[in-house]
Amino acid sequence: MCGIIGFCGYLDAKDVLLKGLAELEYRGYDSAGIACFTKDGIKTIRAVGKVANLANRLPAELESGCGIGHTRWATHGGVSEQNAHPHSCGKVTLIHNGIIENYHELAKELEETGRLPVSQTDTEIAAMLIDSFYEGDALSAIKKAVSRLEGAYAFCILFSDQKDAIYCIRKGSPLVACQSEEGCVVASDMVALLRYSKEYFVLPEFQVAKLTKHSITVTDLDGEPVAPVMLGIHWDMSAAQKNGFKHYMLKEIHEQPEALRRTIAPRMKKGEFLLPDFTEDGIPDKLFLDAKRIVIAACGTAMHAGLIGKILMERLLRLPVSVEIASEFRYADPILDEHSLVILVSQSGETADTLAALRLAKEKGAKTLSVVNVKGSSIARESDYVLYTHAGPEIAVASTKAYTAQLAAFYLLVLRFAYSMGKLSEQEVSSYMEELAAVGGHMEQVLEQKDTIKELSKRLTPSHDLFFIGRSLDYALAAEGSIKLKEISYIHSEAYAAGELKHGTLSLITGGVPVIALATQEDVFPKMISNVKEVRARGAMVVLITKEDNNAAIEQGICSEHLIIPAGNDMFAPFSAAVYLQLIAYYTSMYRGLDVDQPRNLAKSVTVE
Ligand code: F6R
Repeated sequence: MCGIIGFCGYLDAKDVLLKGLAELEYRGYDSAGIACFTKDGIKTIRAVGKVANLANRLPAELESGCGIGHTRWATHGGVSEQNAHPHSCGKVTLIHNGIIENYHELAKELEETGRLPVSQTDTEIAAMLIDSFYEGDALSAIKKAVSRLEGAYAFCILFSDQKDAIYCIRKGSPLVACQSEEGCVVASDMVALLRYSKEYFVLPEFQVAKLTKHSITVTDLDGEPVAPVMLGIHWDMSAAQKNGFKHYMLKEIHEQPEALRRTIAPRMKKGEFLLPDFTEDGIPDKLFLDAKRIVIAACGTAMHAGLIGKILMERLLRLPVSVEIASEFRYADPILDEHSLVILVSQSGETADTLAALRLAKEKGAKTLSVVNVKGSSIARESDYVLYTHAGPEIAVASTKAYTAQLAAFYLLVLRFAYSMGKLSEQEVSSYMEELAAVGGHMEQVLEQKDTIKELSKRLTPSHDLFFIGRSLDYALAAEGSIKLKEISYIHSEAYAAGELKHGTLSLITGGVPVIALATQEDVFPKMISNVKEVRARGAMVVLITKEDNNAAIEQGICSEHLIIPAGNDMFAPFSAAVYLQLIAYYTSMYRGLDVDQPRNLAKSVTVE
């Protein structure tokens, strides 16, 4: 949440900052602002709304080679220009991503020194605090301030008497930096660095980076030099652009077959039979062989991937698995020990609650494995083992390709460990692997049904409520279909276990209410069809999703729209069925005239609680 960027170098700082903010805008879009060193001192410009509004306000004559920029997702204080970053106090101007939890107490203390805030933000209090300690020595002021700050933060700080230098520090919230011939850049995430370098580093917590035009120096809080660990950037600029698609979300939906290939191929080693191989990931068989219990902790869509993972693991590994919402898990005093394996799932690898769940699991002695997309992210770095999904940058706030790549990661893990635990034979694992390798092609077939989905979505556009129903894997997928639809179309939707409807929710099913019924699982197919008939009898507009091989079993008139996924083993149906649900959400949002990629009140990479 909140995108931050700083640049010091030989390009026009305002251009670099604006480009960077546009690339980071998915992290927050309530307001944006920049502050640059100019010949007349630090100039700050802020605007409510998107980065484009800020761009319209920037004077063409603003000349600078060093500045900081911020795109905000409001936490403390409403959406207003006054609350937009950068914030200044005395000699200090800064931008912040995170939440200062003790800002109220600090504000009271600072008031006694005559410093009164003009905004309602916690960030301005941090600027006041650093300024209160500043006597010309930036490091010393930062060190003193940090000892008083509670919460999470990534700061980029300008001191008005230290022209063309940016100081950065972080705790919890991410900051990455790189250096090129054009200058030095620091940002909340690597996407904003892609155009400048193929190498970057993650600023370690509680260490200070100082950017000047030609160097980045990193020290600890006592000024001792630290050599940052350099990481390679494997994504290129085009991966983070729309490439002819109207929205990032649509592009990312289409990228799924390729993203899955990138998740699966590196682990698909052909020997005498097909068996997932995690040698290069460094994940030993022992991890699962030693586990007596598995807990999956994550948030939102990543948690929904975990719901599928749980069904697969319980089915094939015969181990007890629970799926926990990370924000609940972290405060629940969970029962964990050295025989517990906690799997954290996160696209960004920075979600604050998932990170806290990871830290708690480690504290309690559990083994940790993370399934992460962004290389070098906090969750990846702090886990005992990491399985990268390699889905490429996901820019749309609504997660699509990261979700199906997370599913693929679960299938790979389950197949490998079911084999090493002796639960699957060589032949069985090989045949499942072939099915897994085929899902990309199945998803492509569903993508060809785009026009049907467009028409269907037009019909869904006026709905106020919508229900997704399913059983088993379909129920887990229904949860994902529902979050996708509500987050970008703003239509209220709920996912229900189909058998649970008659215990309350059926009262909401009246004439014309859309119900998306997933019926891809053979073992519960007849039950599912009975549930479809129940909602149909109450006048629901039913969209039924089944496998090609179930066509014959579908009676005339049972649904208003019948969507078909390619035939194959039921266990792999969630991949292609997910594409239908993503397309329905996408086109419904589009026909409602909404901002598909940046839905209201949301942001990607939730680095605050
Ligand atoms: C929904 C969505 C969110 C994220 C959630 C976790 O489309 O994207 O629900 O899945 O915020 O984010 P990560 O995976 O980055 O931990």
